[in-house]
Amino acid sequence: MSVDNLSRRSFLAQSAAAAAGIAWVSATIAAEPPDPASNPKLPAAAAGTLSIGGDLRVNRLGFGAMRITGEGIWGEPRDAKEAIAVLKRAVALGTNFIDTADAYGPYVSERLIQQALYPYPQGLLIATKGGQTRPSAGEWVPDGHPQHLREACEASLKRLKLERIGLYQLHRPDPQVPYEDSVGELAKLQKEGKIQHIGVSNVDPAQLAKAQALVKVASVQNRFNVADRGSDPVLAICVREHIAFLPWAPLAQGAQGHATSDRRIAALQAIAQERRIDPSQASLAWLLARSPVILPIPGTSRVDHLEQNVAAAAIRLTPDEMKRIG
Ligand SMILES: NC(=O)c1ccc[n+]([C@@H]2O[C@H](COP(=O)([O-])OP(=O)(O)OC[C@H]3O[C@@H](n4cnc5c(N)ncnc54)[C@H](OP(=O)(O)O)[C@@H]3O)[C@@H](O)[C@H]2O)c1
Repeated sequence: MSVDNLSRRSFLAQSAAAAAGIAWVSATIAAEPPDPASNPKLPAAAAGTLSIGGDLRVNRLGFGAMRITGEGIWGEPRDAKEAIAVLKRAVALGTNFIDTADAYGPYVSERLIQQALYPYPQGLLIATKGGQTRPSAGEWVPDGHPQHLREACEASLKRLKLERIGLYQLHRPDPQVPYEDSVGELAKLQKEGKIQHIGVSNVDPAQLAKAQALVKVASVQNRFNVADRGSDPVLAICVREHIAFLPWAPLAQGAQGHATSDRRIAALQAIAQERRIDPSQASLAWLLARSPVILPIPGTSRVDHLEQNVAAAAIRLTPDEMKRIG
């Protein structure tokens, strides 16, 4: 075991609390209003904080709200009560960065966030995205036309009941539209006060450079996890330029708990076993240790998985364990 004593105690307390119906955490919440930004005692705060765009400070373990929709990220969730409970529980545990997109459902994830959490607690940053459309259940079609992005942003503002979106991300470059045109429209929306900070997603270094030439990029959201390091060059830029890096699929979409021939996942699983933690928690701890600009956004439709994931905020991998994973 190499979790430092304080973190280990806090982690064990959280695990015990989870097993006992969360009395420990509920007691903390009951005593104070849910202001996750300023309550360092809540579990998600154990990950430390990160400033988005230089002025929005959030805990460094977020929540990805894509999985609270229906099968295939299409339509209503199978269990709407559980979806609402996941969102409320995330905030109660100190999560104050929630990632979503108009394309999740479509519209369902944003609507449920508003339904579960509005009026929003102080310090909660809802980061949404536009630029991806869903003509049918199996389709994800980028639309980076300026007019579409404007309409998408305005619709997200209404759906989320916000006057301004704290972080608005361009979901994916549209090969049919010059990237500068798409980013340029977000710059206009920012000037109009509809967006506070601009993020990009699914970019390569050249696309990131194009965006940076036009706007201050506050965050990059790319696929990244123990088994998928394809975005290492983009992460290196984020580290150098102090841009928040939001790895999507931080748990390799659930695959990290299964049998594997990948040497790095096998090492991660061995470490998880030694520490008696879940491989999902080890995956998140690896991301947190990988760089201070990383803010993982694990997604789940279940309260028990959420609690397990947030508890990873207190787990510290050692340099030796990081070396073993590679
Ligand atoms: N920018 C983009 O293009 C893009 C693309 C994809 C995702 N995203 C964002 O990134 C977030 C995360 O990505 P993701 O949801 O695809 O992948 P992920 O977080 O790596 O994995 C989510 C999957 O893992 C399972 N899971 C979660 N916690 C678990 C636990 N403790 N134990 C076992 N299984 C667990 C979930 O199932 P259960 O529901 O059963 O827990 C779900 O199937 C999304 O919510 C979304 O906000 C962005």
